[in-house]
Amino acid sequence: MAVRICVVACALFLGMCILTNGGPSDTTHAFCKIVWLFGFPCDKVSMAILTQIKAMGSYKLGPVTSALIQANHTSAIGQIETVNFTMISTASGQGCHVDGSSVSAFWFSLFDNGTNYCNLHNVIQGSGLTKAPGFTEFTNEWLCLGVGVAACK
Ligand SMILES: *[C@@H]1O[C@H](CO)[C@@H](O)[C@H](O)[C@H]1NC(C)=O
Ligand SMILES: *[C@@H]1O[C@H](CO)[C@@H](O)[C@H](O)[C@H]1NC(C)=O
Ligand SMILES: *[C@@H]1O[C@H](CO)[C@@H](O)[C@H](O)[C@H]1NC(C)=O
Repeated sequence: MAVRICVVACALFLGMCILTNGGPSDTTHAFCKIVWLFGFPCDKVSMAILTQIKAMGSYKLGPVTSALIQANHTSAIGQIETVNFTMISTASGQGCHVDGSSVSAFWFSLFDNGTNYCNLHNVIQGSGLTKAPGFTEFTNEWLCLGVGVAACK
């Protein structure tokens, strides 16, 4: 019993560490963080993400650099989420690690049915990158509120 409690506590603590490590500090806003890996260089990944965001009417592109793409997303109910895609080249330069982050502007969207997950996932899906070589997506309920109930349209 004591061991079980410890395991749960340790797992929670680890989750908190991941969240507070560069994550959104204001937990009253719904948010989602996703990590993707691709088996080709970041300039191609970032080009595909940019092209897709420009093609989607619900996104407004913000500042763009070779390492960070920022945008705002407006959902059907008029709620705004800020979305970031951060590109980090792997050591060999042959692959790309992308951190996706989406945060809702308002507290009432805490139970958002996975809106923040879909904001990120829909861009990658729509760009065709989910079918690209080496594609891997990682997230979980600690990093991404509502990922378990998300039904992305
Ligand atoms: C995105 O939203 C934030 C916060 O509401 C705002 O400060 C920023 O100017 C917006 N960016 C764009 C490109 O609309
Ligand atoms: C996006 O990146 C900017 C600049 O680093 C940061 O201020 C902002 O909080 C980030 N937004 C999200 C949703 O992660
Ligand atoms: C979440 O889904 C439920 C059930 O489908 C719906 O009633 C609710 O309005 C949704 N909430 C948001 C913020 O979309």
